[in-house]
Amino acid sequence: MILAEGMLKQGALKGKNILVTGGGTGLGRSMGEYFLELGANVVITSRKLDVLQETSKEMMAEKGGEVIPLACDVREIDQVEAMWKDATERLGQIHVVLNNAAGNFISPTERLSTNAFNTVLDIVLKGTSQVTLTAGKDWIAKKQSGTFLNIVTTYAWTGSGYVVPSAAAKAGVLAMTRSLAVEWAKYGIRSNAIAPGPFPTEGAWSRLLPGDLVKKFDPAKKVPVGRVGEHQELANLAAYLVSDYSSYVNGEVMTIDGGEWLKGAGE
Ligand code: HXC
Repeated sequence: MILAEGMLKQGALKGKNILVTGGGTGLGRSMGEYFLELGANVVITSRKLDVLQETSKEMMAEKGGEVIPLACDVREIDQVEAMWKDATERLGQIHVVLNNAAGNFISPTERLSTNAFNTVLDIVLKGTSQVTLTAGKDWIAKKQSGTFLNIVTTYAWTGSGYVVPSAAAKAGVLAMTRSLAVEWAKYGIRSNAIAPGPFPTEGAWSRLLPGDLVKKFDPAKKVPVGRVGEHQELANLAAYLVSDYSSYVNGEVMTIDGGEWLKGAGE
């Protein structure tokens, strides 16, 4: 039985302002929607303002509350700082940053151009560190506490062929998560990560895989529980990790993949 319904009680995130990078579509949107349902105000960012505006309208119509769409390419520090300024001027303190924006190419590594390799490193590692540093410096200067939640992947520690820049960058994000959990806890700043397995998102697999492969691709095949994840299952975990219920969880990475990454260890 799948209990893919909201786990936390209504109002569990009331009074929290939450920034979700890459929040216009896919898993970022689903997590943001659940935060909104639990009473948070949500800022969603990506490069595409038109998509964000449409998403924020739909989210507010469905769940109520306040959703602020802000265009921001996380690779550009000027845009990150402007976005942060805008968000804090409009909402006051941002309590949670969900670093979800990512980019990936599935490709033999030797076929990637240097620019392609760097593009993934820039979005994932540089982008996440720029948002983190901007938020963290501001929280510390204002003596505010805060929570980071970073989306990584299990191949950040197992390694994986054909996604080498993504694996390298996500490993960096995981190291940053754990390191800041140690260094910034004294300021009341927690850092945690989630490593999701296969969750269907509109267009992601078809964008990442060539056409003939995507038709044959069965993401559930390698998953011991025999299925892909439901967005609400991920949203429940994310909501827990950004809520005060997880106040003693710091520096942790929680895998939610139906046991997929352990499959390599044999049945
Ligand atoms: C190889 C590619 C490529 C591809 C572009 N490039 N697409 N190389 N395979 N499929 C090259 C380009 O030729 C160029 O190099 C360089 O990469 C930069 O390309 P741009 O199009 O200019 O980049 P940009 O507009 O900045 O977009 C980058 C982007 C991003 C990664 C495509 O826009 C994006 O869409 N990100 C979100 C979508 C996404 O990837 N999500 C996946 C996350 S999920 P040259 O040398 O020609 O200049 C995930 C889970 C993993 O990672 C699941 C594993 C199964």
